[in-house]
Amino acid sequence: MADDKKIIFSGMQPSGLITLGNYLGALNNWTKLQDEYNCLYCIVDMHAMTVRQDPAALRKQSRDLLMQYIACGLDPEKNIIYYQSHVPQHAELSWILNCFTYMGELNRMTQFKEKSQKHADNINAGLFTYPVLMAADILLYQADLVPVGEDQRQHLEITRDIADRFNKIYGDVFTIPEAYIPKVGARIMALQNPDRKMSKSDENKNNTIALLDPPEVVMNKIKRAVTDSDNEIRFSEDKPGVSNLLSIYCAVTGKTIPEAEAEFKNCGYGTFKATVGEAVAENLKPIQARFNELSKDKAYIDGIIKNNAERASRLADRTLRKVHKKIGFPPRI
Ligand code: TYM
Repeated sequence: MADDKKIIFSGMQPSGLITLGNYLGALNNWTKLQDEYNCLYCIVDMHAMTVRQDPAALRKQSRDLLMQYIACGLDPEKNIIYYQSHVPQHAELSWILNCFTYMGELNRMTQFKEKSQKHADNINAGLFTYPVLMAADILLYQADLVPVGEDQRQHLEITRDIADRFNKIYGDVFTIPEAYIPKVGARIMALQNPDRKMSKSDENKNNTIALLDPPEVVMNKIKRAVTDSDNEIRFSEDKPGVSNLLSIYCAVTGKTIPEAEAEFKNCGYGTFKATVGEAVAENLKPIQARFNELSKDKAYIDGIIKNNAERASRLADRTLRKVHKKIGFPPRI
């Protein structure tokens, strides 16, 4: 990796089929950053363990996610694309950072509160310390920027707080990272419940569009998306369904909200939804074609998995050794 470029780190959990929300909020932006920055994009399988996973499904979802990263345009030579569990330094740094994080801070995390409600029978310690592992992911590589959707903003804040606390004690060890959140698409909402975010773990599949959904499924889900009864296509807080579809349309076409509003000024919801559906389906087609090609090339994907984990591990080691030295762990002889 070139030394003069800034560093980007981001990741996704392989906890289901990734959605249009993950794509528009994060992945689509990642591809735009790969020339200007040194980027690491992780498949955060250790984070996924905080909720019960079926082992075979987790393995498949992890590999599928890696292939979707590449199918969306991430170049595995330019970027480091790897599984979190293949680089043990994440867990090592996470333990150390646990000792610099307060229970009170973790108690305030909205994602912890939401997930504890949703999985009331399994409020495990990993779910509670999840943000510390996330801080370790980012700080391990001295990342400058972290491209994520709006829902990860709070986790970025705590990462910065942990890094700052550590630096105040031991000197400048960690780069303080910044969140990089897109203007359009940072919070794509569920199609049937536009008052909550689209989520890959949603059981109602009509709420989500998976990146790998075929065109007719995409068209149908958008056709059935909840709107309202006044038939006016404008972006407004009191029109969450229509606003969500407008955001999706703008994020896939690159148009602005006013441009889209003008385009649909004299249209009914039927035409509007068909146009949005087509735009999304067209956008996903080349990704799906590339994904299908990659699925057939086992050796190529295996090679990426091995090489990229080694590259990540070498970088991670640099920070971890520095941290060990600073905190007073005995040197390795
Ligand atoms: P995850 O797997 O839930 O989501 C992956 C990325 O997709 C974004 N996202 C959305 N964006 C717009 N609209 C939505 N409806 C939507 N849903 C999800 C998320 O903001 C995220 O950018 N904790 C992280 C994974 C993680 C991570 C990291 C990210 C672990 N370590 C270090 C960055 C850096 C998560 O659960 O993302």
